Amino acid sequence: MKDLTNKVAVVTGAGSGIGRALANALAARGCRLALSDVNEIGLAETVAGLKEVEVRSYHLDVSDRDAIYAHADAVAADFGQVNLVINNAGVALSASIREMTDEDFKWVMDIDFWGVAHGTRAFLPHLIASGDGHVVNVSSVFGLIGVPKQSAYNSAKFAVRGFTEALRQEMKLEEQPVAVSCVHPGGIRTNIANAARMGKSENAAAQRKGFDKMAMTTPEKAAATIVKGILKDESRILVGPDAWGIEAINRLLGAAYQPLVERFSRKNLYR
Ligand SMILES: NC(=O)c1ccc[n+]([C@@H]2O[C@H](COP(=O)([O-])OP(=O)(O)OC[C@H]3O[C@@H](n4cnc5c(N)ncnc54)[C@H](O)[C@@H]3O)[C@@H](O)[C@H]2O)c1
Repeated sequence: MKDLTNKVAVVTGAGSGIGRALANALAARGCRLALSDVNEIGLAETVAGLKEVEVRSYHLDVSDRDAIYAHADAVAADFGQVNLVINNAGVALSASIREMTDEDFKWVMDIDFWGVAHGTRAFLPHLIASGDGHVVNVSSVFGLIGVPKQSAYNSAKFAVRGFTEALRQEMKLEEQPVAVSCVHPGGIRTNIANAARMGKSENAAAQRKGFDKMAMTTPEKAAATIVKGILKDESRILVGPDAWGIEAINRLLGAAYQPLVERFSRKNLYR
């Protein structure tokens, strides 16, 4: 996809953070927008900020498989085509493996992995039919390295990466007109830490403060990087200097990155 003008773009989780910034960036490029979220107030604010753009908003809970399939059909019927799907909606959990509940683990997997997998599979026939499609799935740097107290999020984001990389290869081998990118943001200054669930012995206030201190990239910069990556058909879109650093450590050290994370976590998470 070399030009986004008049392309129909779907963004989940568009009521806040990266999703909202993506909606703004895609609108500036001339996209027609199908925006969704469970948070209807946030979504309405996003829509209110968009001027002179064709935009429709949809209530969608991405953990609801049937709702996603119905949404894909509704968007295709409303716009007549679908070109770009950004599976962005996500949540976070900070809890050790010993402490986290099954319910919280499932909550993360249902939204962060199954939301992306169903979102991809439901829209794929429409993207193929468009003749010029692109799937963008939002993973994380925690889809590149494992981190203590992030095992649920790690599980979902590693799974998104594997699923998305396999899809990219399938689309090429089947000669389908669908490009595929996986996004790995570092720390982005959004609402994600505020909305996160925490294990019962976690110091939520300290963790949220730590996140705010470490998140170095604005959502607007993240959206600009993602749009650039889409136009360049990048398979792996790294967002922020911390993401590039983590990618470099991963490449250089392989599995030996783990003592580094351990040292960092002992100082910052296990005090
Ligand atoms: N902020 C970061 O540092 C960071 C880093 C790496 C990856 N990410 C990923 O980026 C994506 C966007 O997160 P963000 O940072 O903008 O966070 P955010 O909390 O600001 O926005 C997430 C949006 O997803 C929506 N959402 C949550 N559950 C949903 C559900 N079940 N159905 C539909 N929508 C739902 C929320 O209402 C919210 O509007 C997520 O997938 C997140 O994991 C964020």
